[in-house]
Amino acid sequence: MYFRTMKKISVFASGGGSNLQSIIDASEKGMLNAEVALVISNNSSAFALERARKHGIKAIHFSTKTHPDPAIYTQELIKLHSDMKIDLVLLAGYMKLLPKPFIALYSGRILNIHPSLLPKHGGKGMYGHFVHEAVIAAKDKESGVTIHWVTEEYDEGPIMMQRSIPINHDDTPDTLAARVLKVEHAVYPEAAALVLSGQIRFPNRFTEK
Ligand code: GRF
Repeated sequence: MYFRTMKKISVFASGGGSNLQSIIDASEKGMLNAEVALVISNNSSAFALERARKHGIKAIHFSTKTHPDPAIYTQELIKLHSDMKIDLVLLAGYMKLLPKPFIALYSGRILNIHPSLLPKHGGKGMYGHFVHEAVIAAKDKESGVTIHWVTEEYDEGPIMMQRSIPINHDDTPDTLAARVLKVEHAVYPEAAALVLSGQIRFPNRFTEK
């Protein structure tokens, strides 16, 4: 009998993909018992795609340009994931919404990372630099990293893990962003490992396939 022990991850990234890199590195170091099997970007020139290819990972530009028909877009995304037997989907700086049928299919198996302590400084338009600018403008004493489950409500999915980071009196959005990103690189692989090993499960639903 054949048991598939090494699980498979897909990562969605729109930009630089430094979080993708931290997941790839953790996988290559054997910290995840899983491999990054697929990387998807809506942006054909995303450095994330290049990072994936350097590691021999299937990297696909997938967008409304490559798939203009919404029904086919959804169908192909689902087919790709089921054909490849993807176990866990990680959003890492992905700027697009996933189709609802895809989220429903992968319910309890999709995570997103956000560079603040949600629910503070989340929601529409709150990404990248905007988040850190808002944190500094609000004179918050701490910021941090949130890993949350992705549900059809998107940004409101249950929080899985948070790590707080103190804000220094002389922090600028740039200095804060750099510290937050460093913590992201440690926390996302940790969170993925906990989900892959079954130690943390989506709170509201039986998540096994
Ligand atoms: C990270 O700050 C992540 O929290 C947010 O988008 C950024 C992506 O950065 N969702 P990178 O592409 O992983 O370097």
